Amino acid sequence: MVDFKQDAGILVRLLEQYHEESREKQQPVLQLPRLAELIAHLDLDPFVANGGLTGAALEAFLHRYLGATTRLHHPAYFAHQVAVPHYAGSLAAMVDGFTNNPMAIYEMGPAAAAIEYFIVNWMLEKAGWVPMPPVPGEGIPGSHGGGVLTHGGSLANLTALIAARTRIAPDVWETGVPDDLAILAPAQAHYSIARAAGILGLGQRALYPLEVDAAGVVRPDRLPAVLQRLCADGRRPMALVANGCSTAVGRYDPLREIAAFCREHGIWLHVDGAHGASALLSRRRRALLAGIELADSLIWDAHKMLRTAPLCAAVLVRDHRDLEGAFHQEASYLFHAKRQPGVDLIHRTVECTKAALGLRLFMVLGALGERGLADYVDRQSDRALEAYRYFESQPDFSCPVAPQSNILCFAYRDWNEEHLRMRDQMIADGTFYLSTTQLNGRWYLRLVFMHPMSGMNEVEALANRLREAERGQ
Ligand SMILES: Cc1ncc(COP(=O)(O)O)c(C=O)c1O
Repeated sequence: MVDFKQDAGILVRLLEQYHEESREKQQPVLQLPRLAELIAHLDLDPFVANGGLTGAALEAFLHRYLGATTRLHHPAYFAHQVAVPHYAGSLAAMVDGFTNNPMAIYEMGPAAAAIEYFIVNWMLEKAGWVPMPPVPGEGIPGSHGGGVLTHGGSLANLTALIAARTRIAPDVWETGVPDDLAILAPAQAHYSIARAAGILGLGQRALYPLEVDAAGVVRPDRLPAVLQRLCADGRRPMALVANGCSTAVGRYDPLREIAAFCREHGIWLHVDGAHGASALLSRRRRALLAGIELADSLIWDAHKMLRTAPLCAAVLVRDHRDLEGAFHQEASYLFHAKRQPGVDLIHRTVECTKAALGLRLFMVLGALGERGLADYVDRQSDRALEAYRYFESQPDFSCPVAPQSNILCFAYRDWNEEHLRMRDQMIADGTFYLSTTQLNGRWYLRLVFMHPMSGMNEVEALANRLREAERGQ
């Protein structure tokens, strides 16, 4: 440990400098060297052979590494729904990396497990569900909510759908997957839903697309028709997935109406709130998720809109028994009846070794407070709305959909695939990092307002960048 203080000091100094030069746009937002050249540039081999990655050698290596990162701390970063981490969450990741308490069984990380329990309860309350009792297994008559943190939203979606499958087919772990199960979901659902259908053994043909409007939002009046078709095919609805909000354009499905339909037909309602559930913190935006309390499960990623270092996603259920019964595995070295003062979360999750994910979110919450995070969510969505109004006021720009979150798609003139080429150009010169999406057959540029400082300065500069490209400058 002699070098720890020195190396940690080097790291903190370089990260501070990295943050400063990214925020001040002194470096390109990203650069994409060729893989083989980059491996050579990073100069990895000598360290594998000889060790010695400490002190000045570490500093030089970190320079090379940081120089080849994509800079999320750069205000021209607009590409994907990935948090610009608050440093407190990054410190938490470091604490966890050092202490390494894989806390899915209580005895391997009581502090981390306690924080996860606390964080899951905090989220359950935000969703309007009954939190877990202070003493696990005791206290609250009737049912209460439940949940677990996972390494990412894709795994959280999978976990929720595993729980839904166990509810409709309680013998699934013994007898295998019935061949008549189906999932209803809009085509705009995140691809992890279709992937989960594959992993769950349903096959992607078991996905029945819900009808949507021009913005990709589910039409509740068209739900009966899809259900009728599914039943006519001899299938049973295992779950209905709604977006809160969608990945491509950030719009929320009408949860209250969808939930009423699901209740009427006894269908499990799963809400994918990986990106959009953070609106639950905002007094002004909570109504976008009205009806969430009627859902059966919800996922919510803190490593998207809650400034949390990767990764920290939650899968939450209104009735804890749905998650606790979801997995039936024997592993006598881990699972056995034991008296203990805490709770094992391992029964609720695909994962065995699990990082102290709750600590990452907790330390950001602890630094900014709930109010600080709510203000961040509001600010980012307000900036998207401002950018929308700006584009709509310009004769040469348009937006296909008004934003409901911090995601905004826009088009320049009558461009279609030209947007893809423009994005490539901007990546090549490192000025802006955007994504693209297709909506109703047309390609759009897509802005996700993640950086806490990005706003109209960047948007106007971006608009000018496109105009210059059109003029061939
Ligand atoms: C709506 C939605 N669900 C799920 C995911 C997957 O989350 P993760 O990337 O954490 O696996 C995403 C990622 O962007 C998303 O937007």
